[in-house]
Amino acid sequence: MASPVVILTGASRGLGEAAAYEAARQGAHLVLNARNAARLRQVAERARDLGAEVLVVPGDIGLPLTARRLVQQTLSHFGRVDAVVNNAAIIQPIGPIAELDPYAWQTNWQVNVLGPAMVVRWALPALREHQGRVVNVSSGAAIKPYPSWAPYATAKAALNHFTRILAAEEPRITTLAFRPGVIDTDMQRFIREHGAEHMPPELYQRFLHYREAGKLEPPERVARALIAVALRAPHAWSGEFVSYDEPRVQALIQPSNS
Ligand SMILES: NC(=O)c1ccc[n+]([C@@H]2O[C@H](COP(=O)([O-])OP(=O)(O)OC[C@H]3O[C@@H](n4cnc5c(N)ncnc54)[C@H](OP(=O)(O)O)[C@@H]3O)[C@@H](O)[C@H]2O)c1
Repeated sequence: MASPVVILTGASRGLGEAAAYEAARQGAHLVLNARNAARLRQVAERARDLGAEVLVVPGDIGLPLTARRLVQQTLSHFGRVDAVVNNAAIIQPIGPIAELDPYAWQTNWQVNVLGPAMVVRWALPALREHQGRVVNVSSGAAIKPYPSWAPYATAKAALNHFTRILAAEEPRITTLAFRPGVIDTDMQRFIREHGAEHMPPELYQRFLHYREAGKLEPPERVARALIAVALRAPHAWSGEFVSYDEPRVQALIQPSNS
């Protein structure tokens, strides 16, 4: 069987970087996107060492032209798409609704909602052809009304509903929203460094506590579950919001090639 081709956004660091290596270990070929081209090329090198053929398509996924270029270059190079993992996201701006900068809010939704929707929009014909999968990396914030997180949390709630609508429209593909838990990445560092100023004290303390109590998940652990659903989630789950630590998700994880 041909190696599955996975488009992965936000692959320059954090969960996306770990997911690139996990997908390579699972025998996938990769198309990697993020803004930092130099960092992305380093991730690509390491993924190649793990056996993957890798194409790098740097760019801001909040711009609709980047999404189209990402899919067009994937099809010119590999001729197929088996999975889209919409992982890139930003949490900022954080702060009370009354104080938020409207342009920063707009950028948040462009990256977190419009970007994933446009990658899917261009990839759909190819995904249908191979009964592919779309995994939209969401967040517990999509279903919890965290004060000071309105742009990010509403964007993730929109992404969950986009997932349901896509599942209803597209019976030939499998579409999931994925809840990755609380991961030890730059996004958590941003919350610790900027939350004191912009978040309610009790919420800020909760996030400080996650780190102090060793409750942050290593990106590699979450990446195993993310790539398992991207490569193997059953069609019956289409439209669902699945969590990385659910037993049925953990049961999809297979040992890697290297
Ligand atoms: N960390 C957590 O605890 C946590 C919890 C719940 C959900 N999540 C979700 O998990 C996913 C991964 O988060 P993470 O913690 O790994 O975040 P992260 O460490 O901040 O990494 C974010 C990734 O997205 C890329 N990115 C940001 N803006 C972009 C843009 N405009 N265009 C293209 N790429 C962009 C970044 O690369 P460049 O800067 O190079 O563009 C980076 O590779 C996100 O969807 C996040 O919402 C994380």
